[in-house]
Amino acid sequence: MEAPTPASIERSLGELRAAFPKRFEAAATEQALRDENAKILGKKGELKAILGQMGSISADARKSIGALANDLKRDVEVAFDKRLQALARSSRDAELNAPPFDLTLPGRQLAPLGHAHPISIVRDEIVDVLESIGFAVHDGPELETEETNFTKLGFPPDHPATDMQDSFWTTDGRLLRTHTSNIQIRAMSSIPPPMAFIAPGVVYRRDDDATHSPMFHQVECFLVDRRVTVAHLKGVLGEFAERFFGSGTPVRLRPSYFPFVEPGAEVDVGCPFCKRPDGTRAGCSVCKRTGWMEILGCGMIHPVVFENCGIDPEQWTGFAFGMGVERVAMVRYGIPDIRLLFENDPRFLAQF
Ligand code: FA5
Repeated sequence: MEAPTPASIERSLGELRAAFPKRFEAAATEQALRDENAKILGKKGELKAILGQMGSISADARKSIGALANDLKRDVEVAFDKRLQALARSSRDAELNAPPFDLTLPGRQLAPLGHAHPISIVRDEIVDVLESIGFAVHDGPELETEETNFTKLGFPPDHPATDMQDSFWTTDGRLLRTHTSNIQIRAMSSIPPPMAFIAPGVVYRRDDDATHSPMFHQVECFLVDRRVTVAHLKGVLGEFAERFFGSGTPVRLRPSYFPFVEPGAEVDVGCPFCKRPDGTRAGCSVCKRTGWMEILGCGMIHPVVFENCGIDPEQWTGFAFGMGVERVAMVRYGIPDIRLLFENDPRFLAQF
């Protein structure tokens, strides 16, 4: 074979220059284009092979051929980028012009269907029952002012009662609401009586044990009208227990203290787990052998709360109660530890 000369090397470069545009044009996919590019500019590519022949030529010729090779390399790179962009554009156009995906087709692999969380199931059922009795849903914020969460509900500043609800405060002096009773204040300050509302929502306290969670759900219920009495409160609670826990479920009110009601009470329902056929309770581990389970706090709205909301307590009276949704779920399903409701273990959740 003849030794390479500057002229023969230049010829080879010229041939490569003449050929590469068509070769790139012929590459129909990005991969084919990249393969072609590697054949030309790669470590073992054609350009390297041509330049490898320069060993025996003069330094001057090497310089001018080097310049030619650099030009060629740059032109190949520019053409590669251009062709790459053109291919990307045409595949995008093809995608856009193709018939659309049918999003309504069923999946090939069916994922197991989930279902509502037990807290949501119980909350929705509580809301359904109270709505069926005639209450409308009212909403309000979780980030609340001290005035609405405590002061207007009759908790004086520094009163020991505020210790009842250790709270999460923000740096600007607001707090995550500790109960849904803030909605009583918001509704009664903005809507003229009569009114009958429920307010389901999330509340927060510095609590954490088997029956207390730092974040939990309450449903507030309150009614304001003329001549509302404890009998109305007891009637609604009895009707709720009947519809939610089942026919004949007994309800009892135990006197208790909340600053925003007078009188105040805690409400127990007959334990659903140890009910005998004659309606009496045997006593069991879930109800700690008492036959009763506490589900909520309640009372007649305190005259001072009415005054704080601009409602005349001589003309209007009302009742309110607030129940813990997780507690009701624990009673209903016999769940011994509230934390099970928040761990989201699928083996636990699959049981509901
Ligand atoms: C209140 O929060 C009052 N706002 C309820 C009320 C409303 C009374 C209207 C009178 C009139 P209490 O702190 O007892 O009260 O909480 C009410 C219910 O929330 C309790 O009966 C219990 O079921 C539930 N509860 C309280 N703390 C927790 C907690 N940390 N985790 C889960 N549930 C809780």
